[in-house]
Amino acid sequence: MGTSASKNPDSFHGGREGGGQLYVSLKMENLKIRGDLIPHVYGSSSIIGSWDSSKALSMERESASMWELSFVVPSNHETLDFKFLLKPKYSNAPCVVEEGPNRLLTGGTLEGDARSALFKLSGDEDELEYRVFIKADIVSPFDLAASWRAYQENLQPSRVRGIPDVSINVAPDAEFENGSAASLELDLEHYVVPAPTASSGVVYAANLAETPRSLVHAGIFSKSDGSSSGWHSSSKTGVVSTDHANSKKDIEVTIGDPTNIFPASGMVESKSVGTFSPLQKQQDGQKGLFVDRGVGSPRLVKSASASAFTSDLNLDSEAKKDMPAAAGAVAAAAVADQMLGPKEDRRLAIVLVGLPARGKTFTAAKLTRYLRWLGHETKHFNVGKYRRLKHGTNQSADFFRADNPEGLEARNEVAALAMDDMLAWMQEGGQVGIFDATNSTRRRRNMLIKMSEGKCKIIFLETICNDERIIERNIRLKIQQSPDYAEEPDFEAGLRDFKERLANYEKVYEPVEEGSYIKMIDMVSGQGGQIQVNNISGYLPGRIVFFLVNTHLTPRPILLTRHGESLDNVRGRIGGDTVLSEAGELYAKKLANFVEKRLKSERTASIWTSTLQRAILTASPIVGFPKIQWRALDEIYAGVCDGMSYEEIKRNMPEEYESREKDKLRYRYPRGESYLDVIQRSEPVIIELERQRAPVVVISHQAVLRALYAYFADRPLKEIPHIEVPLHTIIEIQMGVTGVQEKRYKLMD
Ligand code: F6P
Repeated sequence: MGTSASKNPDSFHGGREGGGQLYVSLKMENLKIRGDLIPHVYGSSSIIGSWDSSKALSMERESASMWELSFVVPSNHETLDFKFLLKPKYSNAPCVVEEGPNRLLTGGTLEGDARSALFKLSGDEDELEYRVFIKADIVSPFDLAASWRAYQENLQPSRVRGIPDVSINVAPDAEFENGSAASLELDLEHYVVPAPTASSGVVYAANLAETPRSLVHAGIFSKSDGSSSGWHSSSKTGVVSTDHANSKKDIEVTIGDPTNIFPASGMVESKSVGTFSPLQKQQDGQKGLFVDRGVGSPRLVKSASASAFTSDLNLDSEAKKDMPAAAGAVAAAAVADQMLGPKEDRRLAIVLVGLPARGKTFTAAKLTRYLRWLGHETKHFNVGKYRRLKHGTNQSADFFRADNPEGLEARNEVAALAMDDMLAWMQEGGQVGIFDATNSTRRRRNMLIKMSEGKCKIIFLETICNDERIIERNIRLKIQQSPDYAEEPDFEAGLRDFKERLANYEKVYEPVEEGSYIKMIDMVSGQGGQIQVNNISGYLPGRIVFFLVNTHLTPRPILLTRHGESLDNVRGRIGGDTVLSEAGELYAKKLANFVEKRLKSERTASIWTSTLQRAILTASPIVGFPKIQWRALDEIYAGVCDGMSYEEIKRNMPEEYESREKDKLRYRYPRGESYLDVIQRSEPVIIELERQRAPVVVISHQAVLRALYAYFADRPLKEIPHIEVPLHTIIEIQMGVTGVQEKRYKLMD
């Protein structure tokens, strides 16, 4: 037995200065009603009532084991002086006041020792003792709005006496009935907390490309390329589009060679190929490439069949190295396409083609991020970065003239250096190289084909844009953000020079008509467009086409949040399907207010939840937006460990616990899932998030959100199981033409 009181003097004083109010919550545990005795509270302040027991405030049943009374008081109250008492609801006799001194709450802090409430019913022999919980928290206008809305929605009488429980301008009823929050002037910035990895500032996507190895090692660089670093694949070179009208059916697909149509199966999820214990090999970083073998308890590894299977494959050590760190379809495809196909097909070069300012670098950065997230070892090689290192950042348009032999040779040379680096990296285990340059003549492309013969398969990815407004906007972004113009103080002069450079390229430009290619025509404009593919086959190329079809640059926010705290969270149990705790319910209300405020100016938005109760309940107070439930958003399935605490797993299944500690990414719970499984199954969610043009609120779970967040933040696979995704916090991913930006809001602890 005891008493618990939460005191938060710091936040109280902070709030006091800011004019907040105190939210006081009084609870009494486990009272079995004696006759018709109900717990009440009375006290000195007019807010509680008075020392007249007939005016005492009745507590309400909050749950089978708890009675509750809460109210809001102005922050400038001095002392709340009160006591618990037991009496019938509608009469004043009998009336039993708790023993001991009055309880004093001064400035949000409970004075004196915390104690239970002790009632003496009839003489010494009949005593009742109940735990009580007294909590006083400063509330911001945001909390008050949540409280007010909860009151409106539940149509319960306010328990507040004397003062309104909302200190904001209340809109006329009609307006709130329509779900409008126009008058809820909540300061969302108040809830912003720093992201674990800072993500601010301008990031030029080309600078996120590989550091030119050959030039740096050889010490051949004239000056800085103007690189800056950043955590995310962010670009300022992207093409702006405001409305993306195309859908898959609007896109024309031209197939050059009917025998080489990329098979539909390349886009279909397949089941996991099972475990491949003989291939187990632990390496740090991105170098090791393994098919998912679901690290776990030995009794669950189908070792006999797995070794038979792998020996049938007769994989050489190089082949084993090329297995992607991925589960399910990616793993199956790796076996089928890469292990059994021609050796050079194990490595893929996506060679960009296109005039300057067509969004090539943005596309390259985005594709790199996607493929890495899927588990393919992928790198972005930007020839512009090589050029800037070797020849400086301030080359004028003349350098790019086709009839300038020195310029031409210099440009071909840096392209060859970048290609050399890319091929060398592939020899070391790299799987997909994204080669980012204009590559706008057949001659240049022939050079690249020759260099990569027998070493990798080349697919050209050509970006064509016929919309003059978009080109103009891209050019302007380029002058603002490219290191090429960082030292040009005169914007107009920069503009003239870049247009001249562009004209030089246009004079000799030859669209791709050779080899395997994907052509994106007016796709980024958001006005439909076409994608043409020629001589494309295999799982990965099919996947790439599918991704490119679905991506666009419409700026929009994506809000990621875990469900509110659940009863299992409180008990420290994993998985399960319990409802929300009290704190979880409060978060659900706060989240609804947040969403209403944050998305109030959006024409449309949707709310996606998992199919688990705790996520659905968290979404339930949100009104006015369509809600969609996805199995793909369900929490990682802990199989036989579902419902256990980590402590219980450690005690009862120490081997499992150890295996997970060692390799959390690949560890698969017995009869359950691994993080790699979760990544695989969340891929359709990523594709749909890319395809959506309106904001989306995703209410899911820790492991799944780690997987989704890692995609946007470009975090390596091995970090995914350890990414910080706290409860009661919203991660806002801003998708835009300048790349991806993150902002976090913490609504409560
Ligand atoms: O504890 C909450 C929870 O969502 C569990 O249901 C789930 O198993 C776990 O988090 C995932 O986190 P981790 O992979 O760190 O155990």
